[in-house]
Amino acid sequence: MTTHDLKAVEKPAVPRDDVLLRATDVTKHYTLRPDGFARHRRVLRAVDGVSLEVRAGETLGVVGESGCGKSTLGRCLVRLTELTGGRVEFDGRDISTLSARRLRPVRPGMQLVFQDPHASLNPRRRAGEIVAEPLLIHRYGNAAAVRRRVAELFDVVGLAAAHLDRYPHEFSGGQRQRIGIARALATAPKLIVADEPVSALDVSIQAQVLNLFADLQDEFALTYVFIAHDLGVVRHVSDRIAVMYLGEIVELAETEALYGAPSHPYTQALLSAVPDLDDGSAPTPARERVVLTGEVPSPADKPTGCPFRTRCPYARERCALERPPLTETAPGRWTACHYPLAAEPLSVLGTPPPATTPPGP
Ligand SMILES: Nc1ncnc2c1ncn2[C@@H]1O[C@H](COP(=O)(O)OP(=O)(O)OP(=O)(O)O)[C@@H](O)[C@H]1O
Ligand SMILES: [Mg+2]
Repeated sequence: MTTHDLKAVEKPAVPRDDVLLRATDVTKHYTLRPDGFARHRRVLRAVDGVSLEVRAGETLGVVGESGCGKSTLGRCLVRLTELTGGRVEFDGRDISTLSARRLRPVRPGMQLVFQDPHASLNPRRRAGEIVAEPLLIHRYGNAAAVRRRVAELFDVVGLAAAHLDRYPHEFSGGQRQRIGIARALATAPKLIVADEPVSALDVSIQAQVLNLFADLQDEFALTYVFIAHDLGVVRHVSDRIAVMYLGEIVELAETEALYGAPSHPYTQALLSAVPDLDDGSAPTPARERVVLTGEVPSPADKPTGCPFRTRCPYARERCALERPPLTETAPGRWTACHYPLAAEPLSVLGTPPPATTPPGP
């Protein structure tokens, strides 16, 4: 994708306290069957104590390597999976404990767009039927009203009305993702959790779909949680970014602040992997590459203390002993690190950051 293709989207300022979605200490643990090595059931900590807020009208990007819990968190946020612990408030209401019956009227307001439109669209249904499905589930109206709404949604996402009767395999990847987006929009949601919505698309198509997301956000005042596995894609769509590692948020900051000066060593390492941009934006200062060594540990066998310490070039003794809490290290910037990187000193890459202690929790 050339970044020239991406529109610069002006976003209205969002009042700081206008929170649409609030997650508090959300956990999702899976109990694994004992295997030959472990006699006891092991617990896989897919999401392990995530707290975040998403303001109405903003886009919160969520990034991290494969397996760090992004999809699981996304599903927790829209309650497509039961939480092990913690709570999620949507539009002022605790949805984490609502019964299925009480959840039903809340569901239309929050939708998920999936990574692989090929896998998530029923191959035996026509595109028009797929988009109509949520309308029928939520009793939108009579057949004529549903047909009108589906035609409108096709138009909104840039699909031709002539294609209403086609099957998913008759569309290109980008068009299939447009069907998925139309289906998500059908119930006029306030929140869309998009789980790697462009990762499966050809690079040349990614910008078009990202622009569609931006246009729809403006048109319908949508709030997005936008999941991606690299920092390249989310930069253009996100107001703020949460960086995840082994089920935890290790850094959360305004997008440009995060790119300008990462505070967590893991963010710094992820940024090192982002190619230079050709869109005229300021280059990422972390040009000295910080290469991640070693494998991501298993979320069923998390390191003690800081989850990142086994791969962190700056880890010290304390990092193995205490789990660093996510702390506001500068206004609007949250970091879970005992020794966060200072704002400027990218010249000190490779040497340990100053041994300052962040303010306590
Ligand atoms: N139903 C399940 N049972 C057991 N483990 C699960 C289940 N679903 C997810 N996991 C595990 O939880 C962890 C987080 O998975 P998740 O799919 O949320 O990661 P992700 O960040 O979305 O990864 P990717 O970038 O590959 O999509 C992984 O270790 C995964 O194997
Ligand atoms: Mg995923």
